[in-house]
Amino acid sequence: MEPAKVITFLIAIYVIWLVIYVPEPLEYFRERFPEKYNASNKNIRTTTPSYKKGSIDDSPNQDPLCSENCSWSTYISNEEFLAKNLIQKEFSINDTDTLYESHEGAYCIPEIFGYSAKEGERVFPPHEYPTCDILTENAPIMSFDLSQNKFTMECDGKSKGYYILEPKRSKNSLYMKQEMTKMWEIKEYDSPVTLKHNEEFAIGSCDGKKWNGAIYMPRFNETAYNRTKERMKELSDKTGVFHRPQIVFMLTIDSFSRRHFFRKLPKTVELLNSLGNSKYSIFDFKIHNVFGATSVENMVPVFGNHTNVKIHDNPPLKDYLGPAALWNKFRDMGYITYLGFEDCDYYFPKSIGRYPQADHITRSFYCAGFEFMDLKMRKQNTVQRCMGEHMSHYYILNYTKEFTNLYKDLNQWIYIHINTAHEETGLHATTLDPDLSNFLKNYLREYEDTHDVVIYLHADHGMRYGNWFKDIEAYQEVKLPSLFLIASNSLLDRIPYSYDSLSHNAKSLTTKIDLRPTSLFLSGLPYDIEYPVYDEPYSKPYIVLFNQKVNGNRTCYDLGIHPLHCSCLVLKEIDPSYYDLNSDNELNVLLKRIVTETIVAINSEVFTPTGIIGNSICQKLTLKSIQKAFGLQLTSVLEEIQIQFNVNESEKALFEVYALVGSSQRTSILRNIGGQGAAIPSVYLDYRIRIKTIGISRKDAYAGPCENLSRANNINAEYCICKDFEEIKQSYPKLFD
Ligand SMILES: *[C@@H]1O[C@H](CO)[C@@H](O)[C@H](O)[C@H]1NC(C)=O
Ligand SMILES: *[C@@H]1O[C@H](CO)[C@@H](O)[C@H](O)[C@H]1NC(C)=O
Ligand SMILES: *[C@@H]1O[C@H](CO)[C@@H](O)[C@H](O)[C@H]1NC(C)=O
Ligand SMILES: *[C@@H]1O[C@H](CO)[C@@H](O)[C@H](O)[C@H]1NC(C)=O
Ligand SMILES: *[C@@H]1O[C@H](CO)[C@@H](O)[C@H](O)[C@H]1NC(C)=O
Ligand SMILES: *[C@@H]1O[C@H](CO)[C@@H](O)[C@H](O)[C@H]1NC(C)=O
Ligand SMILES: *[C@@H]1O[C@H](CO)[C@@H](O)[C@H](O)[C@H]1NC(C)=O
Ligand SMILES: *[C@@H]1O[C@H](CO)[C@@H](O)[C@H](O)[C@H]1NC(C)=O
Ligand SMILES: *[C@@H]1O[C@H](CO)[C@@H](O)[C@H](O)[C@H]1NC(C)=O
Ligand SMILES: *[C@@H]1O[C@H](CO)[C@@H](O)[C@H](O)[C@H]1NC(C)=O
Repeated sequence: MEPAKVITFLIAIYVIWLVIYVPEPLEYFRERFPEKYNASNKNIRTTTPSYKKGSIDDSPNQDPLCSENCSWSTYISNEEFLAKNLIQKEFSINDTDTLYESHEGAYCIPEIFGYSAKEGERVFPPHEYPTCDILTENAPIMSFDLSQNKFTMECDGKSKGYYILEPKRSKNSLYMKQEMTKMWEIKEYDSPVTLKHNEEFAIGSCDGKKWNGAIYMPRFNETAYNRTKERMKELSDKTGVFHRPQIVFMLTIDSFSRRHFFRKLPKTVELLNSLGNSKYSIFDFKIHNVFGATSVENMVPVFGNHTNVKIHDNPPLKDYLGPAALWNKFRDMGYITYLGFEDCDYYFPKSIGRYPQADHITRSFYCAGFEFMDLKMRKQNTVQRCMGEHMSHYYILNYTKEFTNLYKDLNQWIYIHINTAHEETGLHATTLDPDLSNFLKNYLREYEDTHDVVIYLHADHGMRYGNWFKDIEAYQEVKLPSLFLIASNSLLDRIPYSYDSLSHNAKSLTTKIDLRPTSLFLSGLPYDIEYPVYDEPYSKPYIVLFNQKVNGNRTCYDLGIHPLHCSCLVLKEIDPSYYDLNSDNELNVLLKRIVTETIVAINSEVFTPTGIIGNSICQKLTLKSIQKAFGLQLTSVLEEIQIQFNVNESEKALFEVYALVGSSQRTSILRNIGGQGAAIPSVYLDYRIRIKTIGISRKDAYAGPCENLSRANNINAEYCICKDFEEIKQSYPKLFD
């Protein structure tokens, strides 16, 4: 054989061997060939050692400014805290502006919390969605009588129509959408139907085509009730104490940054602001940092005791998080448990397993919505989401309301995950407002005298779409989800230093995983049991928000938060001598390269309008000078650079670009991903790197004669420096039709 053939043959054998014996080729390659440039390789640094001329500044932190009697070293008693009226009772979108004053000396205070109220109005303009009842003409009237196990429906006063009942559940399965497709049974209705296997929902249609009736309600489970009741008795007999039934309720709203909450949920904000003198206290956590990127990366480390969240190929056939899962921990402490999702996607089943052992689970209802009711929750879908006469989130809230009512005399642990804001315009979020504010108002009122209630009204992360890679404000909002902690005063009064601790922590760096020790701590309180929270080593870096104060020196690093997800890392100004365009040191070359690429990107965007002659409206831009530059070392192999520059073609135009630079090529952030800027190969400090510009914006007010013209012709007006207006008018009169 010829040598070339031999080589081909050997390669083919190797590839076949790989395919057969290596289940995860990518993992295999990564194990065999570890990345040379990575943050844990201390010998290689590919980022700028210092942004200051003539100094090597490698230490990320200064010393804590305060060691004694600062706000985090002293604790004020509940009586004193309340007497002095130190608790914040009104919250607003921009009250973060004063955090510096109140928290002098804390390491982590983000410089940007997101869009200002005014910018927010521009980026997320108000949008009206019709209510669902206008879409429900000719809808069936349906009802469940669970005591008689009967389902009835009615169409125009007549008993006919079509229905689908919840398929038989087994072992609290989280089903996948495609599995359910085989389970749905469409039936014709003519008389009351006997429910045979604990159905909790039905959808209906009068013509068999348009499915526009829905009903969903929890069914009392006597086994779970008895078990919980017995466990409560055991524990209270042991300590001789039982205060009141306690509700620990994690009300998760997907993709709601703190600022988006203020922008899009005005009624809910008003409700929270009105509770100042009620039987509840509210704490608005202003620096609540994400732990990871996605929903599961943020929530699974709270549910379980590991941060290594895996999306398995198939849902593991068990309660994957095991005894460590919050629902299991709470069950052991005498709570009835409920886990509910307003979705039917694969993330949760594939990461927490198919059979989470919560007493109630809701999710399949939404699979029916996707299958029959045109429910869509992909980020690209921006129409409002009706299931029958209500928005889809209504049903999970209504279910929760009834769940709590059914098990009133029990302790309850509830987790629900609402998806209203999971879409890319950021506008649909507002449809949650009426339903959520109503729900909360009634719920809080209902249990104010009889229960100890703690609600974490929180998001998993901010919006991860739309502008999130373009504007630094949006990028910050991704990292700063909302967390409003609502707690009964009756409970707070029993926990020493709770008001002071929570108020302090609300203004300090916290992260999602803090909710785990905090919840475990709460679980023992009905019986005055001091739950051994820190028997679990995993919880060590995190705190019980109710009685421990965040130390001023707390950093993202301490919490295990990746620098890219850290809201408090602050850019440092780069010494101006580095961007004198005539000098040619390496940093200078890098900055120029970034700006040059940016100008190419801008020019290519304004020169390719559809339907008109390429360069008819905007000028081609050239670099005049760099005005300012900032840098931030994210890791030893990844840094963030922000540059402001101006151009020869306009006196006042000021552009800003935000770029990521580094050698860590396995970081997805430095890959080419559609819709974001390209990752451009380059060389820096003798290392092969990539530059990815992820946000280009215009800083001056750019309204000019061309603004409307550009918009009308589909050109990014922000980037357009207009040609002489009269000249355009003469050459292209057509444009002005
Ligand atoms: C990082 O580099 C070190 C030293 O070369 C290596 O041992 C380690 O496996 C690398 N880690 C990754 C994730 O590639
Ligand atoms: C800190 O507070 C304690 C108790 O109030 C007081 O005794 C001590 O002098 C204070 N220390 C300083 C440095 O102010
Ligand atoms: C927040 O903005 C409002 C106007 O929108 C202003 O009246 C208020 O003083 C601002 N608050 C802070 C803390 O900056
Ligand atoms: C809301 O819950 C109540 C109480 O369980 C139930 O009667 C009602 O049918 C539910 N509404 C819908 C639309 O499912
Ligand atoms: C629940 O407890 C009650 C009262 O002790 C008992 O009558 C009932 O049979 C129990 N139910 C189940 C399902 O165990
Ligand atoms: C996590 O929980 C499991 C089950 O309770 C336990 O076996 C394991 O040691 C825990 N891991 C950590 C890191 O706490
Ligand atoms: C009732 O609760 C028990 C204990 O959580 C569970 O095993 C059982 O499947 C539940 N029954 C129904 C019908 O959901
Ligand atoms: C933060 O400060 C506390 C006490 O002031 C100290 O015990 C702790 O080690 C410090 N943590 C870090 C990460 O510096
Ligand atoms: C833009 O302005 C700079 C600084 O004034 C000058 O050096 C450069 O030659 C100009 N470029 C063009 C293309 O006019
Ligand atoms: C651009 O359009 C807006 C709204 O249509 C109008 O108010 C404004 O005057 C226009 N600006 C110019 C410069 O024509």
